[in-house]
Amino acid sequence: MISKSKALKGNSTKVYIKTFGCQMNKLDTELSIGSLAKKGYSFAEEEKDADVILLNTCSVREKAEHKVYSQLGSLRDQKEKNPKLILGVLGCMAQNEGDKIFKRMPHVNLVCGTRMFSRLPELLDEISAGNKRILAIDEDGEVNFDRLVTQRQNRYSAFVSIMRGCDNYCSYCIVPYVRGREFSRSVTEIVDEVKKLADDGCKEVTLLGQNVNSYGKGLSGKVTLATLLRELDPIDGIERIHFITSHPRDMTKEIIEAVGELPGVCEYLHMPAQSGSDRILKKMKRQYTSAHYRELVDMAKSIVPGIKIASDFIVGFPGETEEDFQETVSLLNDVRCQNSFIFKYSPRTGTAAIDLVDDVIEETKKSRNHIMLELQKKISSEENIKMHGKSVEVLVEGESKSNAGRLIGRTRQNQIVAFSPPEGVGQEGVTSALPGTLVNVEIVDSTDLTLFGDLRDFTLNELAH
Ligand code: 5AD
Ligand code: SF4
Repeated sequence: MISKSKALKGNSTKVYIKTFGCQMNKLDTELSIGSLAKKGYSFAEEEKDADVILLNTCSVREKAEHKVYSQLGSLRDQKEKNPKLILGVLGCMAQNEGDKIFKRMPHVNLVCGTRMFSRLPELLDEISAGNKRILAIDEDGEVNFDRLVTQRQNRYSAFVSIMRGCDNYCSYCIVPYVRGREFSRSVTEIVDEVKKLADDGCKEVTLLGQNVNSYGKGLSGKVTLATLLRELDPIDGIERIHFITSHPRDMTKEIIEAVGELPGVCEYLHMPAQSGSDRILKKMKRQYTSAHYRELVDMAKSIVPGIKIASDFIVGFPGETEEDFQETVSLLNDVRCQNSFIFKYSPRTGTAAIDLVDDVIEETKKSRNHIMLELQKKISSEENIKMHGKSVEVLVEGESKSNAGRLIGRTRQNQIVAFSPPEGVGQEGVTSALPGTLVNVEIVDSTDLTLFGDLRDFTLNELAH
C-alpha cells in the first residue's frame, strides 16, 4: 500500500513523503507532516517538484524493502540533475538497514529510524546547512506523540496511536526489533487527542497499536483497552471507533463486551490468526491454539450481533506440511472472515525463525497463497450476498475513483459501499458536501469486495451539516 502526502500551503522548502506499509506508517507520515508544517516547510504534489523526498518504509517482508531500494535507484537521475535534492529513508527499513542504505545508495542523505521522527525538521535543516549524510537510528529515542490535529489528510476520519512497539516476538516478525518495546500512552493523553479531533470535525477514529489488546500494560491502575473504549465512547461528535490490530492471545471477554455495549465502537475485529495448525502456531510463538481462536470468534459472534472478523494468514512458514496448510484452510472456512490478508512467508534476518530452514518451495507458497485468496474471495462474495435487501449505515468517503459521479463509503464493519447520490445534489455535493456524512443505504448488489446500494431516507436538508 502506498499513499502520497498532500500539498499544503506555504512557500519554503517543498517536501514530498511517500508512505509504504501499514496504518502505523500512514500515521507517522501525518505526524511528520504536522511537525514539518509547524517549522514552515511546505509540501509538493509530485515527486518531481520536491526539494526533499522522503520514503517512509516497511520491513515486514523482504519484498517491501526491495521496492524501496528500487525506488531509491530510480531517484538517482533526479538527484544527479539536482544535487541539492535531499533524499531520506524513514521508518522501519531505516531502523533495520541503518547505514547499509548509504552503502548501497550513496546518493541518500538521511536515514531516520522509527523513534526519530520528531527530529525530522532539525535533521533536514542540518542537511541543508551542508551535512551531506545523517544516520539517526537511536534506539533510545523518545517517540513524540504530539500532534497538530488540524494537519490531517482526511477531515472526518483519523488514526490515533494508543501504543507503540511490540513485546510478543512472534518468531517470523521483525516489528519488535524495528519498533522497539511496547509502550502504552496514558488514557488522559488519548482522550484529550480524540476530543481535539472531534472539535476539528472528526467523526471516526481508528485506535492503532501493534497489539492493542495488551493496551494498558505498564500503566498504573486497572487500565485496559476495554476501559479506554468506555472513556472514548461518550466523546461528543465521535460516531465510530475502530481499533487495530488485535492479538488472539490477549483478546478478552471484557473487550468483546465493550464492543457489544458501546454504541460508538464498531462491530469489527482485525484479529490475525496467521495459521490454523497448532504445530505451526507453536513454531510461530503465537501462544494460542486454533481451537482458542475459534472460541474467540464464536464468543464475539454471540456477544456482538453482526460482528465481522478480518484476519492475516502466513502460508509456507518453515515446516508447513500439506496437512498443516489444510488446517489453515479449514480455519478460514469455519470462521468465514469478511476479508483476510494472505502473505507468503518471508524470512527476516534477526528474527527467531531465521534459524528454521525456509523449506517450503516458492511454487508451493504461491499455490497455497492462491488457494487462500480464492477461498477468501468465495466467502466474501457469499457473505456479501447475504446483505442484499438490508439497510446499512454508511460513512460517506467521497466520489468513487473508478466510477465518476458515484459515491463510496464504509459500513461500521469496514465494508466498502458504492451508491448513487440523490438527484439534485450535483457535483459539489458529491465531492465536498456529502463526504463525512452518515447515510442509510439499502444493499441491492455486490461483488466480493464491494456492496452496491441505493440511498434511503435521505433529504437534501441533511447536507446542511
Ligand atoms: N513473512 C510474511 N508475512 C509476515 N507478516 C509479518 N511478518 C511476516 C513475514 N516474515 C505478516 C503477518 C502480520 C502482517 C502485518 O504481516 O501476517 O500479521
Ligand atoms: Fe509482529 Fe507478533 Fe508483534 Fe504482531 S504481535 S507485530 S506479528 S511480533
